[in-house]
Amino acid sequence: MNIQENISLKPYNTFGIDVCANHFVSVNSIRELQEVLKLQDYPNKFILGGGSNMLLTKDIEALVLHVNLKGIEIILKTNSTVMVKANAGENWHEFVLWCIQHDFGGIENLSLIPGNVGTAPIQNIGAYGVELKDVFESCEALHIKSGTIKTFTKKDCKFDYRHSIFKNELKGQYIILNVTFKLTTKHHTIKTDYGAIGNELEKQNINKPTIKDVSNAVISIRSSKLPDPKKIGNSGSFFKNPIISKTKLTILEQNFPEIPSYNISDKLVKIPAGWLIEHVGFKGKRFDNYGVHKNQALVLVNYGNASGKDILNLSKLIQETIKRIFDINLEAEVNII
Ligand code: EPU
Repeated sequence: MNIQENISLKPYNTFGIDVCANHFVSVNSIRELQEVLKLQDYPNKFILGGGSNMLLTKDIEALVLHVNLKGIEIILKTNSTVMVKANAGENWHEFVLWCIQHDFGGIENLSLIPGNVGTAPIQNIGAYGVELKDVFESCEALHIKSGTIKTFTKKDCKFDYRHSIFKNELKGQYIILNVTFKLTTKHHTIKTDYGAIGNELEKQNINKPTIKDVSNAVISIRSSKLPDPKKIGNSGSFFKNPIISKTKLTILEQNFPEIPSYNISDKLVKIPAGWLIEHVGFKGKRFDNYGVHKNQALVLVNYGNASGKDILNLSKLIQETIKRIFDINLEAEVNII
């Protein structure tokens, strides 16, 4: 194993923030991971996956452990379904493309989401009407303190909107090693209810879409709205879409009759944070090296050498403005470190 000193984390986070790690090691096997965790010289460890859902605001005074476990395996195939196990360090989008190539259906709507397989369950990634939980069978995770491996079922993970047990009760306690997905091999359930997908397919004159068509439609929509982290640093949606009561919505509608909302339950609705942010004038705003993306107000961007603190301060300004104008609390979706 190669423990390096004073390494810049810029290439390891999609926001492209240049902070330094005291120590850094990339681990390629579970055994190596267990050995690193036993090292007494580095009491503080910081687990890094794809770095796609974090805003780094300071240097990391710890041993940064880059989980680089690779490999995809078909573990069981029946007439209509397949269980596929992918290791945590596999790039998410490449895994989606691998599944499509094999005609395994279920995650095509989650195409082009940045990050790795191992971090996908932590925030229950979701897009265009599908969430990771819909195809999740189980995952194996390493308990950092004891070094033992535990299997988590879907129920154990307590998935919710952009949420799981790994973001809550078990935060910082486990490293996800691999994820097993239950996918379809025939009679795929094609999900095109999310407006933008239907429109995109229609534009291309496709009326009986395959999983590949859906993936291509999602790639096309995402590429037109969301900045490519390789070109402009970002972490996807910076905030969660807030959930408010219908009573509160009725009050807001008196001043903002055009406010969009989606029913969640009898009493609750979800409001697109992008609309709120656009409505108060932040969409496309640029402050020096950072700002709010011009095509999707939910995405904060680093145009060059912005610091994590710059972006954090912008996010606070947006939160305060939304609170003042709408009396709604915007919660960050990304982890602020
Ligand atoms: N909207 C605006 N202005 C904007 C952006 C959005 O008014 O600048 C309003 C519009 O009313 C639009 C609605 O918001 O119809 C929904 O917009 P969009 O379809 O772009 O979805 P979103 O709610 O902004 C969520 C996810 C995205 C995911 C899309 C598609 C969250 C926090 N974000 O965004 O996820 O790709 O739906 O399913 O739930 C991510 O998590 O990083 C991410 C990109």
